[in-house]
Amino acid sequence: MQSAAPPPPTLAAQGDLTVNNVEVVYHDIIQVLRGVSLSVRAGRVTALLGTNGAGKTTTLRAISGLLKPENGKIREGTVSFGGRVLSALNGTDVVKAGVVQVPEGRRVFKHLNVEENLRAGAILGRGHWQSDLERIYTYFPKLRALRSRQAGYTSGGEQQMLAIGRALMAHPRVLLLDEPSLGLAPLLVAEIFENVRRINQEEGLSVLVVEQNANIALRHSDYGYVMEGGRIVMEGESAELASNPDVKEFYLGVTEHGQRKSFRDVKSYKRRKRWM
Ligand SMILES: Nc1ncnc2c1ncn2[C@@H]1O[C@H](COP(=O)(O)OP(=O)(O)OP(=O)(O)O)[C@@H](O)[C@H]1O
Ligand SMILES: [Mg+2]
Repeated sequence: MQSAAPPPPTLAAQGDLTVNNVEVVYHDIIQVLRGVSLSVRAGRVTALLGTNGAGKTTTLRAISGLLKPENGKIREGTVSFGGRVLSALNGTDVVKAGVVQVPEGRRVFKHLNVEENLRAGAILGRGHWQSDLERIYTYFPKLRALRSRQAGYTSGGEQQMLAIGRALMAHPRVLLLDEPSLGLAPLLVAEIFENVRRINQEEGLSVLVVEQNANIALRHSDYGYVMEGGRIVMEGESAELASNPDVKEFYLGVTEHGQRKSFRDVKSYKRRKRWM
């Protein structure tokens, strides 16, 4: 008699990334994350929104094993990916497990050219670097044109594409993006988000994108979380969040009547507003 077929793998086993009740402290005393829980579902783009200092970058560092260089640590809770606990691993092992972060401020090797920067991302020796370069150049044609330009002499938008391209060279299953829109013109930001969406759809890559620019992030994601003061204060399908009156007024600067609030109004509102 044949034995029964094994049960279908759970979603978690297929590659959901889960942050479960995580608390992070810096220098043993400064508590920044206060019980953060979120999921990055396999094959989806998830947005993590919040204003300055909310704890977004800290959340990414907790996932990617990059707290230690900042003298931070996870005091409570776990991060797991596909059923495997990541929170005990160092940064390199998290990359090996398939989770790769593109840090804030698009750090590239300024003295290397664009192609050398990309090759530096092939650190795990997965795949074949030449076909991988082709793959990146297909997603970001601008990088192909700039392949022999010194990275330090490329524009902010090009450096952001390069930083993302370099991360993709490591064949991630989950890509963590920290404020890719920062300091870039709206058209470029749209181009970058569209490219990320395309990679997500064509390769099934899961993405967690941190943004202060809620407008663009909600437009290009499936699900979103709003963070404030080291806690998740709201979550939902991106389309729902984008039409939520609080989110609209607080992050999108639009009042109930569809008018755009002036920057000054939004700013003073930001100072007053508390989610909880
Ligand atoms: N290395 C560190 N040592 C001490 N405190 C830190 C460190 N990094 C961040 N913090 C503090 O943790 C809090 C959250 O910072 P974090 O960088 O995670 O916020 P953020 O949401 O990414 O903000 P931003 O939008 O400005 O990038 C801030 O109060 C910050 O001062
Ligand atoms: Mg940050």
